[in-house]
Amino acid sequence: MMKRAAFLVLWIVIRFATPAVAQTDSLAKLDWFSNARLGIFIHWGIYAVDGVGESWSFHNKHIPHDVYMQQIERFNAENYKPEEWVRVIKSSGARYAVITSKHHDGVALWNTKANALSIPAASPAKRDVLTPFVTELRKAGLKTGLYFSLIDWTHPDYPGFLRDSSRYKVADDTLRWNRYMQFCNRQIDELLVQYNPDLWWFDGDWEHSAEEWNAPGIRHRILARNPSAIINARLQGYGDYATPEQHTPIIPPESRAWELCMTMNDSWGYQGSDTNYKTPFEIISIFADVISAGGNLLLDIGPKADGTIPEEQVHILKELGRWTSKHSEAIFDTRRGLPYGHFYGPTTLSADSTVLYLFLSQGASDKLVIKGLRNKIRKISVLGTPQTLGHKIVGKISWSSVPGLVYIDVPENVHDSYITVIRVELDGPVSLYRGKGGFH
Ligand code: GLC
Repeated sequence: MMKRAAFLVLWIVIRFATPAVAQTDSLAKLDWFSNARLGIFIHWGIYAVDGVGESWSFHNKHIPHDVYMQQIERFNAENYKPEEWVRVIKSSGARYAVITSKHHDGVALWNTKANALSIPAASPAKRDVLTPFVTELRKAGLKTGLYFSLIDWTHPDYPGFLRDSSRYKVADDTLRWNRYMQFCNRQIDELLVQYNPDLWWFDGDWEHSAEEWNAPGIRHRILARNPSAIINARLQGYGDYATPEQHTPIIPPESRAWELCMTMNDSWGYQGSDTNYKTPFEIISIFADVISAGGNLLLDIGPKADGTIPEEQVHILKELGRWTSKHSEAIFDTRRGLPYGHFYGPTTLSADSTVLYLFLSQGASDKLVIKGLRNKIRKISVLGTPQTLGHKIVGKISWSSVPGLVYIDVPENVHDSYITVIRVELDGPVSLYRGKGGFH
């Protein structure tokens, strides 16, 4: 009887405790991703020709679909230097890149055989622009991610088209839908065979259910070929990691790994009229917040139709690179920092959690405080400089086990122009007091 009850409880737990993202077949495959911290997203497509919103501009009827599609006739990629892209991306400190192999407009960057809507087949660039980029990424030791839109608003067999009109309903014509899915899977197979990406970044899953997409089937065919491929969560519950978009989560996603994707200005693809760039400081402080909460930042660039990366974007990547290389120890291969309440700002921990990194904004107070730290401190220094710092323990009562407050003085002249990182070396793995303050 007891055994049966225990079994029932176990069954209920397994049945209903399905996390928001699918259980990964092997959690270890996420290691490189969690340690990478920074990736660069690339939205490159025909929308860069006139600088209009990628796919959404016709879907939302800002411009007619045929006018949008005519941009393909002027997509020439004449100054495209994939090795230069990879050099700039790598200089930011990023360890992986994710590129739009095909956006919702249906235009493939590679030489797809599934239809004729691709840059090699239909644009004056006349060549596969995806392959040389992937080759350069791999040469440089960066991981390859492919963004692939499940939605294809241009395909005649895809139901969705404009915001307020669709071609048909799946339930009314399953044959037509199956034809679309055959096409979609054929493209996925092409990408799988030609590139075998380390990471799949699906998008657009929201237009259909897991059953309609056959999401488990897509996951299965990818993993059958490459069991260590990582899949983002936009596959109706069959992915490995969560992808919040544009907004830094206040409460971090519960999945083992997560990634915030974010634009540098307000657009994913190149739009010359959008000059609303975040400053390097803003991007770096968002990045610090993200890694403090155990996530990655996937920072987007939108190259122009001729293949050059806009100067403002190169500038941000360079500034980011200066900062990440100075503070690499506090960024890469680190773990989620202290929970809220111990320090006023982002923190990370070394993989063995014996070193705590405190991130301070420029102009931050020169007096820092850490609360509830049980460890003894071995040494405090300013990362990327030879400067060591003293500290003072305040309010430690000899007979109480509650730790005192650690105050650290940071002289103004050691501050980084963006964010200073203080390295706190502990006497062992971090140990925190999370109580209510002794008597209550
Ligand atoms: C959204 C948009 C898309 C963009 C993507 C990047 O899903 O549909 O335009 O490519 O976010 O995260």
